[in-house]
Order: sequence, then C-alpha cells, then structure tokens
Amino acid sequence: ISLKSYNTFGIDVNAKYFVSVSNIDELTDILSRKEYTQKLILGGGSNMLLTKDFDGLVIHINFKGIDIVSENEDIVYVKANAGENWHEFVVWCIKNNFGGIENLSLIPGNVGTAPIQNIGAYGVELQDVFDSCEAISVKDMQMKTFSKKACNFGYRNSVFKQEAKGDFIITSVIFKLTKHSHKLHINYGSISSELEAMKIDNPSIKDVSNAVIAIRERKLPNPKVIGNSGSFFKNPIISKNHFNQLYQNFNDIPSYPVNDEEVKVPAGWLIEKAGFKGKRFGDYGVHKNQALVLVNYGNAKGEDILNLAKLLQRTVKRLFDISIEAEVNIL
Ligand code: EPU
Repeated sequence: ISLKSYNTFGIDVNAKYFVSVSNIDELTDILSRKEYTQKLILGGGSNMLLTKDFDGLVIHINFKGIDIVSENEDIVYVKANAGENWHEFVVWCIKNNFGGIENLSLIPGNVGTAPIQNIGAYGVELQDVFDSCEAISVKDMQMKTFSKKACNFGYRNSVFKQEAKGDFIITSVIFKLTKHSHKLHINYGSISSELEAMKIDNPSIKDVSNAVIAIRERKLPNPKVIGNSGSFFKNPIISKNHFNQLYQNFNDIPSYPVNDEEVKVPAGWLIEKAGFKGKRFGDYGVHKNQALVLVNYGNAKGEDILNLAKLLQRTVKRLFDISIEAEVNIL
C-alpha cells in the first residue's frame, strides 16, 4: 500500500502491510501478533520524512472522540483521543469557548503525536495546556499515564523523543483549558499587528485563532497543496559569545532570549542568508515564504529532500559555524 496520503510531505513509498486501528483492543491485538517483526506507528504523518519502502506493518492510529472529563467554574479538563486531527480539535475548543490552544491553530498532525515534539507556535507550547496523557507500552501492552512532569517537555522535545523513544504509543491526551478567564498570548511575533489590521481591539480566542490562521496561510504552504512537514529544522541555540561574533558580520541577525548565556537564532534566517530561500530543484526545494520549510512539489523522493537538508546543514555550518538539527523524524 502507498503511504503517500498518510504523510504530509506526500512522499510515495510503500508499506508491505498496513492496518488502521480505531480502539485500544484492536491495537493490542495487532501489537501481540508475532508475524510482524517490524512495526511503524503512524499518526497524522506530519512530522516525518519517509525515505524508503517499509518492509513491515504500518499501524495507523485512528482513535476518535473528544470528551469533557471534569470542570469547575473556570477550568475544564478535556480528553481527546490520539487520532483526532489537531486543528479540528482546536476548532472544537474554540466553538465551546475553551481557551488555551488558539495560538496552535492550523498545525498539521494529530492529537496523539502533539506531545511527542511538544508542538508550539506564536508563544504557546502544548505543555502550557497539557495535563496528562495515556499511552500503551509496545513491549508489555500495559497502559500508563504520563503526568506533565513525566513527559519532561522541552523545546520541540519530550520523553517520547528521548528515553522512552519508540516504547509507547500515546492513545489519548487530557488538556487543561479555561472557560472564562482566557489568558491571551498576542505579543508574540505578528499576532498583535494582525489583530490591528483586522480592526479588533478586544480579541476573543476566536479572533486570536483567526489571526494565527491568517499569518500561517500567508507564510506556510498548505500540505494538501504542496507537500511539507512544517519547520524541517529546530531553531538552534548558540552561546551569546558566538552570537556576538556573528553580529560583527551580520548585524541584522535576529535572536530570541533563552537564558543568561544562550540565545536562539531562527534557522529560517540562516537558510535565507545562505541563499536558499525559494530555491527549487525539480520537484523539491525550499519554500519561498519560509526558508525553514522544505517542500515537495509533486513527485519528490524522500532521499532528494534528505540530501537537500544535508546540503543546508553543511552550508549553514560552513557560513555560521552553527549545526542545525532536523526537527522532522527521518525514516
Ligand atoms: N526568518 C527569515 N527568513 C525566513 C524565515 C524566517 O529571516 O525565511 C526569520 C525572520 O527574522 C523571522 C524569524 O526568522 O522574524 C522567525 O520566523 P517565524 O516567525 O516564521 O518563526 P520560526 O522561528 O521560523 C517557529 C516554529 C514554527 C512556528 C513559528 C511561529 C520552530 C522550529 N518553528 O518558526 O513551528 O509556527 O515559530 O511561532 O521552532 C513547526 O514546528 O513545524 C513550525 C512551523
């Protein structure tokens, strides 16, 4: 079976076997089958680059359902199953006036994969609204609850990318959201100017979501039209010394504070400075509006994109002495 429609990069590789599971019983049943030695877990397919055919079983997690677990005057705990589309979940929250994830509008992918890389945008990260998640161990098929602490979230990072990598499949996530006293985050990037342009001075969570959607639609390619996986690299963190040296030559270099010794530099800026923004090589290239996004215009091979990524890494290293690390999982 072709995996083209199961990865947002739209890479056409084949899996030998494929199954879509819609509940935990179906999942445990398939995990316990001994005949499939190689297994690949697939959620929304929004954070992976497939570079070759897969000679095993792909398990597509398709658990649906959103429920209110508990609530009080101002807080609501909402449980969403892993296979819910992330943006549809955001829309559901906004319809119910549940605040907290409006800045995370339009991020591709599913609820169950969002904690793995602690998705984030416009000053909000998943960890800000995360309560806990349930996951099944692929080894003994026991269910385990992960508290926020146990997830050990960091910038585009969690226990599921580190110590527990490959050991668990997240089946549902519980979010802690607000019902009335929403804390809006509109000071990051261009949200406030977007709201101004929309002539809104007292924004609701829906207005903030609309502003984020407008910004994203301008900058980021829609994966349904042009295959991509969002930011291909993480924004690198460098020492202030290193930054000051670079500043001598590039006095337009942007940075975000991290701590007393380090700053984060936008990888998109480094790639643009290296001259790759909007560069197209046949069916693949670097997006014209956001240099951090690599794109598939049609029939690119995963390897083409991987080679381009390596070229960008080498060039950025040579020009700025900075190593940029892929955010996307390469398989
Ligand atoms: N920039 C350039 N050229 C470019 C792109 C960016 O010079 O082609 C510079 C500009 O100075 C710009 C700055 O980089 O002001 C920041 O750009 P942007 O606001 O687009 O954000 P980013 O740092 O490139 C991060 C996240 C995005 C998230 C945005 C907005 C990472 C790896 N990426 O990108 O997340 O949407 O901030 O909050 O942290 C994703 O992870 O897939 C993703 C899209």
